[in-house]
Amino acid sequence: MIVEMHPYIGLIEAIKQRRAARSFKSDRIPEAILQEILELAVQAPSGFNLQPWRFILVKEQQNKEKLQACAFNQRQVGEAPVVLICCGDRSVKQMENITSVIQLGEENGIMTPSYANYLRSNIPEFFTNHPSFETMEAWTNRHTMIAVTYMMIVAKSFGVDSCPMEGFDSQQVKQAFQIPESVDICCILALGYASEPLKEYGGRFPVNQVCFQESYNQPFPLTS
Ligand SMILES: Cc1cc2nc3c(=O)[nH]c(=O)nc-3n(C[C@H](O)[C@H](O)[C@H](O)COP(=O)(O)O)c2cc1C
Repeated sequence: MIVEMHPYIGLIEAIKQRRAARSFKSDRIPEAILQEILELAVQAPSGFNLQPWRFILVKEQQNKEKLQACAFNQRQVGEAPVVLICCGDRSVKQMENITSVIQLGEENGIMTPSYANYLRSNIPEFFTNHPSFETMEAWTNRHTMIAVTYMMIVAKSFGVDSCPMEGFDSQQVKQAFQIPESVDICCILALGYASEPLKEYGGRFPVNQVCFQESYNQPFPLTS
């Protein structure tokens, strides 16, 4: 169930105010808010609704320190009340998970026999040919990071700060947290309440520098 929690910051303000926090207070995130952040994060879209994201919530201090040691000793990993190891499971392309997705669709009243058959035949074909990605790791990252993005924005809307991190040794984290070979680590995400003023906004390149029109490098006119 998704409940509305107050006070919250609206979507646009949450996007504008979010900064990567580099230090956290020890204050815990209320369980109801943490639960809500997770519930909303998993509303993210995914190809064929396969939902490859997997999250390990690390809260115990000794485990956070273990993770910090795998993350170039980044301060926020040891300080934040909750640190998530955000993973993507490559094995979701297996028929077992496809069947679960079909069942989920049936439970939600949207699955027809013909769509179920389409999924059973097209998903394996898609992963055999993989026309839109080169490696399965690119595919798992593509999806998990959408859920992580939802998480950061939803967290901010509840006043919870975050820091996404790629500064970690993947093999070390896998070993320390018993993550199977078939699972990729996409990022680490610290969640909590920033202990220092958030770092200054570093700016973004203007839209007309990163958007093109009709073909790559063809200027995107904002006005026409
Ligand atoms: C995938 C990803 C990996 C990142 N890795 C780290 C990291 O390891 N350590 C860190 O302090 N910040 C990390 N950041 C935060 C960025 O430095 C930060 O988002 C960027 O400088 C823009 O600042 P802002 O998010 O505060 O606007 C990462 C951000 C992303 C999206």
